[in-house]
Amino acid sequence: MLTRIDHIGIACRDLDAAIAFYQSTFGLILVSEETNVEQGVREAMLALSAGPPAPNPLAANPLAQPGPLPAGLAGPSYVQLLEPLGPDTPVGRFLARRGPGIHHVGYGVADIEVALAAIAATGVRLVDARPRHGSLGASIAFLHPGDVGGVLTELVEPAAQ
Ligand code: CO
Repeated sequence: MLTRIDHIGIACRDLDAAIAFYQSTFGLILVSEETNVEQGVREAMLALSAGPPAPNPLAANPLAQPGPLPAGLAGPSYVQLLEPLGPDTPVGRFLARRGPGIHHVGYGVADIEVALAAIAATGVRLVDARPRHGSLGASIAFLHPGDVGGVLTELVEPAAQ
């Protein structure tokens, strides 16, 4: 169901400084910057530098069917940097409590409605019962960290290419 790691969300106090750090230290590529008032953040998506295409991980599995990669398995991975718009926002409260650091993990899914229904049926609580707008035009939804071992978990159905 989870096809790949789409992004790691990292809370920071100064978005511009964090972007500069990831660019100069790791060579990440700034793809977008947006303000999401609904979520109370300024955010940036930085792509990992493009390398050769990854081998199909299913090729080593003798039970896997030959053929193209399942939908959503291929695609870029990002670091998502999050600066709160104020202290009384989810990321603002996270920073006050925990300081800068990893805030959430975003996993790719091929169909977010199908994935949400299947996950809810297992008893995991959904923060977002319905998908909403995320970075780069994706549809996203968060799962309750209390039911995912303390990890705030986001599902990401990327925008159609
Ligand atoms: Co995210």
